Amino acid sequence: MQPGVRPRIQRCLLTGASGGIGAALAQVLAEQGITLILQGRELTKLEALQQRLPGQHELVVADLTLAEERQRLLTQAFASGHIDCLINNAGASAFSDFTALPPGDIEAMLALNLTAPILLTRAYLQQMAGRTTTVVNVGSVLGAIGLPGFGVYAATKFGLRGFTEALMREYADTDTRIAYFAPRTTATESNSAAANAMNTALGNAVDSPTQVAAAFMTWLNGRAQRRTVGWPEKLLVRLNGLLPELVDRVLKGQLAEIKKHTAAAAQE
Ligand SMILES: NC(=O)c1ccc[n+]([C@@H]2O[C@H](COP(=O)([O-])OP(=O)(O)OC[C@H]3O[C@@H](n4cnc5c(N)ncnc54)[C@H](OP(=O)(O)O)[C@@H]3O)[C@@H](O)[C@H]2O)c1
Repeated sequence: MQPGVRPRIQRCLLTGASGGIGAALAQVLAEQGITLILQGRELTKLEALQQRLPGQHELVVADLTLAEERQRLLTQAFASGHIDCLINNAGASAFSDFTALPPGDIEAMLALNLTAPILLTRAYLQQMAGRTTTVVNVGSVLGAIGLPGFGVYAATKFGLRGFTEALMREYADTDTRIAYFAPRTTATESNSAAANAMNTALGNAVDSPTQVAAAFMTWLNGRAQRRTVGWPEKLLVRLNGLLPELVDRVLKGQLAEIKKHTAAAAQE
């Protein structure tokens, strides 16, 4: 292989393919001629997606919070050949007053957004040891800026970002590309009515999954390891890193409005 030139991705395991961003990612990846192993929890949703995509793809139904289902996913995915890309995209969020969030929901979010991608990545990298491969973790702008109402979600995405960064550096002398892709708010079913109402009230930009997928594909075809989607979010992420007290003040100014919507969330 020429130094710095990566071979084209051939087969990619995409988790959360049946969701809003996942389906849009599946579309752009399939349009590049990449064969996909599409994971979701409902076969009918995956079949509907498969019918819309160019090319032949495989479907695997699995709950990623269960160790045996993650193992089965990898066994099925590797059954017909090597997989040179893993995209950890499956995830869930919750917008709520912190103490109103039930403990079971907190544990489920940590399991899906943080534990599952870490353990799936571990098993995947063991299987692909020594080969050229790519792992993309789908984080969030809220993995760099803690927003009121999103404490647990932020915990999972900050954790995922830290994990990805450490791994990026650990694999810097190998042919394994570890990468982190952080969308801002995107119009999918993962956002509740209350979260959508808050975004409208605060004038927060909302991308379509198609816009996010287009940004993803341009980035994946380049060399950068990190990508935050959207402006001014890119700047806010940097600002929050450098001067968090400034962002504290801005968010305090928005707190009364945000709390109106977390109160509405409790009624949903
Ligand atoms: N939407 C946003 O505003 C936004 C912004 C930034 C980052 N993100 C991140 O982008 C990623 C995709 O989000 P999205 O908005 O597309 O969400 P979504 O539409 O709700 O889709 C979530 C996907 O995850 C799958 N999933 C949920 N629970 C699962 C479980 N226990 N085991 C296996 N799969 C499970 C879902 O499968 P089913 O179809 O079977 O439910 C679905 O395919 C997430 O990591 C999210 O945190 C989203």
